Amino acid sequence: MHKDLPTTALEPTILVIFGITGDLAERKVLPALYHLFANDLVHPQTYLVGTSRRDISVADILKRIEHAVTAHTDGFDPAVLQKMATHFSMLKVDPTVDADYAQLRDRLQQIEDKAGVCLHRLFYLSIPPQVYGGIVQRLGQNGLNTGCSHGVTASRLLVEKPFGYDLHSAQELISKTSEHFSEEQIFRIDHYLAKETAQNILTFRQHNPLFNQIWNHRHITGVSITAIESIGIEGRGNFYEHVGALRDLVQSHLMQLLSPTLLDIPSDMTADAIHKAKQSVLDSITPVPADQVANRSVRGQYQTYREEVHNPDSTTETYASLVLYSQDPRWEGVPLKLTTGKALKIKRTSITVDFGDQPHSNRLQFRLQPNEGITLALRVKKPGLTSAMEETTMDFAYHTAFQAHSPRDAYERVLIEAIRGDHLLFATDEEVLASWRILQPLLDEWAKSSADLVIYPSGSDGPDTSKLIP
Ligand code: BG6
Repeated sequence: MHKDLPTTALEPTILVIFGITGDLAERKVLPALYHLFANDLVHPQTYLVGTSRRDISVADILKRIEHAVTAHTDGFDPAVLQKMATHFSMLKVDPTVDADYAQLRDRLQQIEDKAGVCLHRLFYLSIPPQVYGGIVQRLGQNGLNTGCSHGVTASRLLVEKPFGYDLHSAQELISKTSEHFSEEQIFRIDHYLAKETAQNILTFRQHNPLFNQIWNHRHITGVSITAIESIGIEGRGNFYEHVGALRDLVQSHLMQLLSPTLLDIPSDMTADAIHKAKQSVLDSITPVPADQVANRSVRGQYQTYREEVHNPDSTTETYASLVLYSQDPRWEGVPLKLTTGKALKIKRTSITVDFGDQPHSNRLQFRLQPNEGITLALRVKKPGLTSAMEETTMDFAYHTAFQAHSPRDAYERVLIEAIRGDHLLFATDEEVLASWRILQPLLDEWAKSSADLVIYPSGSDGPDTSKLIP
């Protein structure tokens, strides 16, 4: 989380993309690859193989990349696409057909033979959770879990959330995957950890003794992690109806942000030591007990959601807010509030740490988006012949402090770190299970009755959550 994006040459790699025509690949992964090629952040011997059930040409994929890149940035360069084209190939693969995996194996072999070097094999799975298990199994059965034939490297899996649907299915998925791939080979993406300010949490905590000294329950009275969006489900109805806000964002992104906020900073900042510290944060958090669901959680659904998913009876939540507590003495009694929601007034992701009791608190806020930066709220005397106080802020914003710095999309960092084989940015199997363990009792209670589901207008602030903080 504290490392610079490496600009040194990376290893020669083949990246195989399952789900290349999907929404996520199109919006995030392909544009990120474009920018990596544009900035020479990949090894010259980097090859891309897209797989699709249908016959799709490389030209078609390149058109999609151009469209996605021009939609979000000004400086599109056709020469970058030409460079990518020489490294790109497509293969028709039905993920349920064994023979297609044999073809994939042959394709990888041909590319390696031509390149004359051993290439790291990275399989990126941007696919619905229900097909995930089958693909992993077939990759394994067809010998694609081992490294290239020219060397001894192991192949890697780069996988998208959700990692399971609940605690039980996550356990099953992890155990099935482990039949073919070791934990070392698996990179579970949580792109929120790759956002610039998230990368700063540990550095900021570790290297600013002012805060480091008081980072505990004696001084901190509350931690709130919020990831709200103005967009709705954007045509992802089929996916979202079975998932909902708690599974979509809280189980993954918010839990992953909670860990670096609370963890005991290890003396050596290795990936292993940081993962151990994250794990201990998650293990110390107690789930919301069944008899406290009413006053420790709020869920809502935006007004037009049911129409969008064509289900007038849908009880899927598009908004979730809950308060958790840790058993770690360092965080005793500190409410940890996690909130997410769609179709709200604004988009904002932030981590807010309150020092002192309201309304006399100082408030430190990490802003992950928009306007990335860190703000400290302070009270000062108003100028002039008055002793009245006012709240003001000390602001650090990336765009003013580092003017030459253009923020990289989180997916660029995700891809680079997976190619480098560095696990720091990725969730471990134990972290995934611990997050499900924390949320499972709430999921179970919510499944029993939806009487507390609040319908809120799109573009509003969402349901009232004031009852959550004692
Ligand atoms: C994804 C969720 O993980 O994150 C989406 O599945 C959500 O529902 C998205 O919209 C938000 O990501 P970002 O980077 O735009 O905040």
